[in-house]
Amino acid sequence: MTVLPDIQLVLRPNVIEMRLGSPDPALLPVGDIARAAELALCRDGPQALAYGAEQGPRRLLEPLAAWLAQREGRAIAPAELLITGGVSQGLDLLCTLLTRPGDAILVQSPVYHLALRIFADHGLELVPVASEDGGLCVDGLAASLETLARAGRTSQFLYLVPTFCNPTGISLTDERRAAVVRLAEAHGLTILEDDVYRELWYDAPPPAPLQDLAAAGTVIRLGSFSKILAPGLRLGWLTAATGMVARCVNSGLLDSGGGLNHFTAHVAAAYLDLGLLDGHIERLRAAYRQRRDALLDGLARFMPADCRWIASGGGFFVWVQLPEGCDSGALLPIAEQAGVSFVPGARFCTGGGGERYLRLAFSLLPEAELAEGARRLGAVVDRKILGND
Ligand SMILES: Cc1ncc(COP(=O)(O)O)c(C=O)c1O
Repeated sequence: MTVLPDIQLVLRPNVIEMRLGSPDPALLPVGDIARAAELALCRDGPQALAYGAEQGPRRLLEPLAAWLAQREGRAIAPAELLITGGVSQGLDLLCTLLTRPGDAILVQSPVYHLALRIFADHGLELVPVASEDGGLCVDGLAASLETLARAGRTSQFLYLVPTFCNPTGISLTDERRAAVVRLAEAHGLTILEDDVYRELWYDAPPPAPLQDLAAAGTVIRLGSFSKILAPGLRLGWLTAATGMVARCVNSGLLDSGGGLNHFTAHVAAAYLDLGLLDGHIERLRAAYRQRRDALLDGLARFMPADCRWIASGGGFFVWVQLPEGCDSGALLPIAEQAGVSFVPGARFCTGGGGERYLRLAFSLLPEAELAEGARRLGAVVDRKILGND
């Protein structure tokens, strides 16, 4: 009889799963979330279990707006904030509201592969905008906009992860942020800024969000409790101009079901009110910094000399470039046989490319396993690709 799984994460015995960009279950604050859930039920009782207000409960909107203002130094009016069921659900809702099947959208390439799946579910045509070492390529964006314009088309939006990008770990520089925003404003292009890793920096805080640099209405920014608290809460937020928030609030989805994940929104509100979030993020940073360092050390020790990678300053990933002519997709089954896994780079790229790259996640595994994973990967690349059997 098949045993139905409880969780998405599947770990295979004897494989060091560096493919999975999940928070480590051991770092989920189970006891403190139990305290928060108890507080939510004690103080709000049936209100915490009713259909919620479409925008999200006041209980969470107010402390979240205050928390964002304190962390980011910019006041956010509660009317500019919508509680979502996480970034994934927020993207899905925005696709429903802003697009029709067959529409074109611009996407950073490489970028978070599962956002690309959400866009595909909506029948959207994905137009890639290349990224390089400093993040999204501004000339590439101008060229893609021009190509669309020549075909008499526009893009419904540009999707990018400008801060500690999944999969590259790269953050867009201040100058490029300003240039991307200027270009978007000049073309009336809406930007969807996926900012899910902003709080998880390990060396220095990241540059200001694109949204802070843009005129109201240009940028919709998506945040999440998945990486900084617990993905099972299925809870996040978006900040946007009040008119855009109102469009979301008036969607059929929220009209029918009420605000998203109303009970877990009350739990997150209680967690914030108990003053637990900042300390938890500090602990996560310390743990993930050590893991990042362990993986970088392991790569430096074990990868063959002609492999390259970028030392991520935050987020969950390291993006590795293999020697010229290598295909990480072909390497994957061999690596899994040797007990290490990764995600091949091509999965993150729209319109081809990325074969020479692979993504390693350091969020899930303890340091010793990351070092061993790097050793196994280095040995496979050396043997299979460079032929040093
Ligand atoms: C860039 C990026 N956006 C969104 C998500 C998913 O966010 P959520 O759990 O809030 O739906 C992930 C998860 O890996 C991610 O890396």
